[in-house]
Amino acid sequence: MIFIDACFGKETPYTPVWMMRQAGRYLPEYMEVRKRVGSFLDMTRDPEVVKEVTIQPIDILDVDAAILFSDILNLPMEMGLPLRFEKGVGPVFDKTVSTEEDIDNLDSKADEKLRYVYEGVRLIRKNLPSNKALIGFAGSPWTIATYMVEGRGSKQYAKIKKLLYTNPMMLHRLLSFNTKETIEYLKKQIEAGADAVMIFDSWGGALEKEKFFEFSWNYMKEIAKEIKSLYPHIPVIGFSKGVGLYMDGMDGEFDVIGVDWNTPIEYALNIFKNRYTLQGNLEPTRLYSKSAIKEGVEKIASVMKGNRHIFNLGHGILPDVPVENAKYFVKLVKEVTSIK
Ligand code: CP3
Repeated sequence: MIFIDACFGKETPYTPVWMMRQAGRYLPEYMEVRKRVGSFLDMTRDPEVVKEVTIQPIDILDVDAAILFSDILNLPMEMGLPLRFEKGVGPVFDKTVSTEEDIDNLDSKADEKLRYVYEGVRLIRKNLPSNKALIGFAGSPWTIATYMVEGRGSKQYAKIKKLLYTNPMMLHRLLSFNTKETIEYLKKQIEAGADAVMIFDSWGGALEKEKFFEFSWNYMKEIAKEIKSLYPHIPVIGFSKGVGLYMDGMDGEFDVIGVDWNTPIEYALNIFKNRYTLQGNLEPTRLYSKSAIKEGVEKIASVMKGNRHIFNLGHGILPDVPVENAKYFVKLVKEVTSIK
């Protein structure tokens, strides 16, 4: 698999490419399934649907990796926090974690309740062409904690940051709980057939530098270390958003580091050299314009030529991007980066 080779820094015939949120609302085929099933959450709980939707972008765009169709919030949901998606708001937990007792009451068998995910992974791997990789994933302990404490997406993160500065030991307890569950969750995804795993830390950038390492990156490192000790052949991808300026402190047993679109990729390359494969980082709204795609892809390709790289967007694809442009992006990456 060209994607796995690139994760480990092996030479590949072209730079492999996929897109964050590639199974989603910009695809009419996805919208059809969602209409049939009724809700996003119900889609994630039906292994047949998970399989169908995960494979759609492989068939339609010919990307080099599929990413499991699910959400980072299924894990906290199965810990005992009912989840709903509210129009115009996004994910909402009506029950949140605010006391030590709330942590005591979290279900430490959440990983066992996520059987619908593992069954989905098995079905996907069985149906996916053998040259395409399947990426499993989880949210970072910090990022899922922000939803568990705040109850929804937040601009200020006032509740969880109040906890961080007034009762850091309690927050560490919650993060350790999340870490342990996440390790089990990823192990079971790998046992079911995931070829690589990715940790999404979308809200790492809400923290100042030293707190980012203490409350987010260190837990991600713990997960990577455990996965690599058990499965050295499975690439681990770490992706923290909004922390480009902290990259000089990032280490750990990752194979790939995701670079968000706010971080110039030459800046990341200069720090990491070829210690990790870098994944990213086209500005997602460039997908609205073919000339913007071309300019962005050529710039990134010229910086990363000869270096360890997986092409991706610098965050998720937006719902109103024309499918034709997404196809153009994937085709162009392969053309521009091909070894002739
Ligand atoms: O990348 C993929 O295609 C794989 C599947 C995936 C989804 N969410 C599907 C999804 C992955 C890896 C995620 C991760 C995720 N979920 C993150 C981390 C990555 C990031 O984007 O920063 C976060 C913070 C979440 C939480 C979440 N889930 C939010 C904030 C939302 C609402 C956003 C929106 O656009 O309305 C979701 C819903 C969600 N997760 C959708 C998809 C395809 C949209 C569901 C729909 O309306 O059909």
